[in-house]
Amino acid sequence: MDAIVLLKDDHKTVEKLFKEFENAGERAYKKKRDLVDQIIEELTVHAHIEERIFYPAAREGVPETSDHVLESVEEHHVVVWMLSELAGLDPQDERFDAKVTVLIENVRHHVKEEEEEWFPEVREAMGRKRLQEIGEEMEKARAGAPRDPLALGSARA
Ligand SMILES: [Fe+2]
Ligand SMILES: [Fe+2]
Repeated sequence: MDAIVLLKDDHKTVEKLFKEFENAGERAYKKKRDLVDQIIEELTVHAHIEERIFYPAAREGVPETSDHVLESVEEHHVVVWMLSELAGLDPQDERFDAKVTVLIENVRHHVKEEEEEWFPEVREAMGRKRLQEIGEEMEKARAGAPRDPLALGSARA
């Protein structure tokens, strides 16, 4: 599968979970815990395959996008620390919803930049064949992805 199509599919999956969280009732603690656990897993796996495969390949293939890569890793850094905090936070804690809201804002901003500013440049410069190779590598790398957000490279960036 084309690398950019694969990443955008992941973005859609996460956006769907965000919407479900936003529509969950104030006191739907179990549902919110469940959704946040899914969000943590999806985003951790997604960040892993981006950081291990897509970002380095994009940087190598399209050196002009280096600034986007560096900025993206800093954004991942903030997100993965928030994910690790949410993993251990009681959904009844008054800070839980606030933290998820800020996480969602951060991720939406990050996804928008990837999809609107950066990925189109990468697509144009790399071509379909190379993007398919990278897509295949990412599919394979999902299996070895960590479940702990702090195990990601960007946690220590
Ligand atoms: Fe990203
Ligand atoms: Fe992404």
